Amino acid sequence: MSVKSIVETRRSVRQYDSSYKISWEVLTSLIESATKSPNGNNIQATRYLIIDDPSLKELLLPIAYNQQQVVDASHLIVMLGDYQAFERENIIEINEEAYQAGYLDESLKNILVNNAINYYENQSREELKLELTRDVSLASMSLVLLANEAGFETITMSGYDSKKLKEALNISERYLDVMLIAIGKGTEEGHSTVRHKVEKVMFKNKMD
Ligand SMILES: Cc1cc2nc3c(=O)[nH]c(=O)nc-3n(C[C@H](O)[C@H](O)[C@H](O)COP(=O)(O)O)c2cc1C
Repeated sequence: MSVKSIVETRRSVRQYDSSYKISWEVLTSLIESATKSPNGNNIQATRYLIIDDPSLKELLLPIAYNQQQVVDASHLIVMLGDYQAFERENIIEINEEAYQAGYLDESLKNILVNNAINYYENQSREELKLELTRDVSLASMSLVLLANEAGFETITMSGYDSKKLKEALNISERYLDVMLIAIGKGTEEGHSTVRHKVEKVMFKNKMD
């Protein structure tokens, strides 16, 4: 299926076959592809916490306001951003790896390292949160499209109590939870949804 047809036919699916389990190998392969998504300065801050333990899913059900897909979908993925990715050690390590692989020469490596360190070092926690939100959201969309291409259904979710979810899963303040993604075999199609006409959302050179 083309990207265009996946984008145009994908729906958020809320009913899942609770007996269907995606294999760990398939899930790993989807996530490995999603890691190729664009991300700021290639600091690779996105983390994927996979939940498949039935007791954890039950624990999360009320935290996600009893949205049944939390327990019925094969896996629930907590899409996280890692604030530690902004640290200079990570920036140096990633660019060193690219240098060792022959993708950068030494001078470009040094430029990229310095640019990234300078870019992040004076940002507030709120600004870094936006950086993480951008990166994790792009990876999330990739994962949704990849999952659909592989014949699965998904739903992205922000309908949960962030504080309670982090407590329940022992997620420290090092991480920003951006969204949940439920993935599995749908049993009912997602309902059709409307979109604005393109003329309403598309602007040329200036906003009205
Ligand atoms: C960031 C985000 C959070 C969402 N959270 C929820 C949610 O908690 N529960 C839910 O039923 N749908 C949720 N949705 C799904 C949207 O309702 C859905 O994408 C929208 O209605 C358009 O429908 P479609 O995805 O089927 O095209 C969320 C979507 C996004 C992008």
